[in-house]
Formats: sequence, structure tokens, C-alpha cells
Amino acid sequence: MQNDGLVKLTPRLKAVAGLVLPGQPMADIGSDHGYLPLYLVSKGIVPSAIAVEVRQGPWAKADHQVRLHGLERKIEVRLGDGLKPLKPGEVATAALAGMGTQTMIKILTESMPIVNRLKRLVLQPMAEIPVLREWLYRHHFHLTHEELVREGDRYYVVMAAGLGHKPMPSVTELEVGPLLIANRHPLLVPYLAKTIRQDEQVLLELKNITTEKAVRQQQLLEKRLEELKEVMTWLSCAKP
Ligand SMILES: C[S@@+](CC[C@H](N)C(=O)[O-])C[C@H]1O[C@@H](n2cnc3c(N)ncnc32)[C@H](O)[C@@H]1O
Repeated sequence: MQNDGLVKLTPRLKAVAGLVLPGQPMADIGSDHGYLPLYLVSKGIVPSAIAVEVRQGPWAKADHQVRLHGLERKIEVRLGDGLKPLKPGEVATAALAGMGTQTMIKILTESMPIVNRLKRLVLQPMAEIPVLREWLYRHHFHLTHEELVREGDRYYVVMAAGLGHKPMPSVTELEVGPLLIANRHPLLVPYLAKTIRQDEQVLLELKNITTEKAVRQQQLLEKRLEELKEVMTWLSCAKP
């Protein structure tokens, strides 16, 4: 088998791959093309993988890729919903990438007996990231790693969580990422600067709307901007 991998991953998926527990079976939930398990198995990072897809089209695509590379003995492609096609304890890591937070929470909530037997969750949510962080801490998980990745002018947050109760991070930490702050991640300043610019733009637009909902949104956004700016100030003042 090749040691340089069969597929070249984007920086986002490479960051996801980088947080998977090496040497132990993994599952990629919502695998689509199947690139993540193909990469991990062909590089020998994990001994085996299960790719799960809920839609027939992507399932067939991933299954085809696996057969094309002769990896069907090491990568199983299962058609099904979330973690339901897995047995408890079957894999050490479950990765969920490129989905919204609400989809991830639904998938995790519907399979808690499986979730509670995982050694690690690797998550790359596309939106509502603070909600996902809070959900993890409320369900006896804690963050063990947080990464920021840039692709063009887009930033992605990739996180790993392990089981075990730890105190809930502060509101600001939930908003920005407790480990991104603690580790002063090198992309945190440009990431926050971009988020602040976007929020300020939305705030300007909301100021023209006087409905109760818009006013409430304005208040929430102003509070969030305050938190983001506080972290920016801390990052520029605090010594490494
Ligand atoms: C945007 S793609 C992301 C693909 C890949 N994980 C990545 O990050 O590049 C999301 C994939 O998740 C699949 N998906 C959504 N909900 C799912 C569920 N409940 N169970 C399994 N797959 C699901 C979709 O069919 C889709 O192929």
C-alpha cells in the first residue's frame, strides 16, 4: 500500500484527519466522497474505518472509491443515519465534518450509548460553533484540541472532545474557543478581525430595522462584539 496516501485533502479535512486518534478504528459520519477514511487508511494512520452516509448518491460514490482503491477490507461504507449504523465500542474516534451544529447535535443525541463509548469526537461545524461547545460541556465532554484553518478567505474551526466532566468555559471562551484563546492560536487575530468586520456590517444593517426581533438581535450582536473585542485586546496586550 502507498504510504503517501491515495487522496490529497483540503487544509480543512487535513486538520480533521490530524485530530483522529492514530492506530485505532475510526468512523466518518457524513462521509460524502469518503476522502477522509481513504486518506487515513491509505496512509496507515488508522487500521480501519467506517464511512457512514445517509444519502444513497454519496454512499455509492464513497463505496465506489473504496473498491477502486481495493480497500474494501479496511473501509466499510454503510448507508444510514448518523451513528446509528455503528455498534457501541466499534470505533475509537467519530468524525463529523462539514455539517451544521444542529445536525451534529441531533446525530449525537440520537445515539448517546454509542457516543459514550467513543474515545474521541472530532467535529468541524459550519455554524453555531459556540452552541456546539456548550452542548459538549453539558454532556460530560470537554475540548481537548481546537484548530483554526484558513482556505482562501474562509476560516474553519476543527475541534476534538473527550469524555469527562470539566467546568463550563466562560461565555467569551464558548464564543471564541477556550483552547484557541489559551494557546493563542496564530490565526486567531485575523479570524477575529474578520468576524468583527462581518458582525459590524450586520449591526449596521440591523440598525435600520425597528422590529422587536431586530432590536433583540442587535443587543445580542453588540454583546458578542464586546466579547470578541475583549479577546482581541487581550491577545494584543498579553505576553506569549
Ligand atoms: C457537506 S457534506 C460534508 C462531507 C465531508 N464530511 C466533508 O467534510 O467534506 C455533509 C454530508 O453529510 C451527510 N449527512 C447529513 N446528515 C447525515 C446523517 N444524519 N447521517 C449520515 N450522513 C449525513 C450528507 O449527506 C453529506 O454528504
